[in-house]
Amino acid sequence: MFTCVIVSVFTLLVLPTANASPNGAPTAACGSMTPQHGYEPQTSASPFKAEIPVGEYVLMDDPVQLELRASAGATFKGFLIMAFDKDEDTKPIGTFTEPVDGQLLNCTGGFTNAVTHTNNTEKSLVKIKWQPPLYYMGTAVFRTTFVQNSTTYWVKTESIGVSFVMEIPSSASQSSTTWAGLIALLLALLIQ
Ligand SMILES: *[C@@H]1O[C@H](CO)[C@@H](O)[C@H](O)[C@H]1NC(C)=O
Ligand SMILES: *[C@@H]1O[C@H](CO)[C@@H](O)[C@H](O)[C@H]1NC(C)=O
Ligand SMILES: *[C@@H]1O[C@H](CO)[C@@H](O)[C@H](O)[C@H]1NC(C)=O
Repeated sequence: MFTCVIVSVFTLLVLPTANASPNGAPTAACGSMTPQHGYEPQTSASPFKAEIPVGEYVLMDDPVQLELRASAGATFKGFLIMAFDKDEDTKPIGTFTEPVDGQLLNCTGGFTNAVTHTNNTEKSLVKIKWQPPLYYMGTAVFRTTFVQNSTTYWVKTESIGVSFVMEIPSSASQSSTTWAGLIALLLALLIQ
């Protein structure tokens, strides 16, 4: 009983000043994607984001490479990422796979459907791979909670949507070809 009281007082004293969970987010944080340390999330634009180098179209069943990046000069200590269907966004979808720059979590009864950090070193780039559900042809978005330090964090920062398709739309590749053509032309003109 007495030990109990001491433990709770200790917890109360320590928790608010504790740093981003040093060993990663516990599964208890899966639902809200919010660190349980009593500080309010930031409402400003996040200096951190999940980028998808391949762009907004991916072939059905292909894995997606993700990069969690910090803007110049910033670093984050902790993160928690999950994927959701854009139109039906209550349950995480798909699975994150090895190799992963962090640890795989089983959230809300699922299987390796989230990734969190393994330590609280300062990070500016974390690489992650995600596999969509079999035959999935919707649009997925990635939501990431980034913890900068013990008091400053951004919850559910959203990525661009990634649509899974049978064929990459020609408009997607054409527009980049057009831009590449224009840039090449400009460069050629500049060099002359
Ligand atoms: C800490 O985490 C980073 C990013 O996940 C990882 O690259 C690094 O190897 C880890 N460091 C240690 C000491 O475990
Ligand atoms: C996730 O679930 C699988 C299968 O039930 C289990 O083998 C694995 O250890 C779990 N991973 C974690 C991090 O709990
Ligand atoms: C956390 O980071 C913010 C933004 O850089 C900074 O203003 C704040 O002082 C830092 N807090 C701690 C406890 O390091």
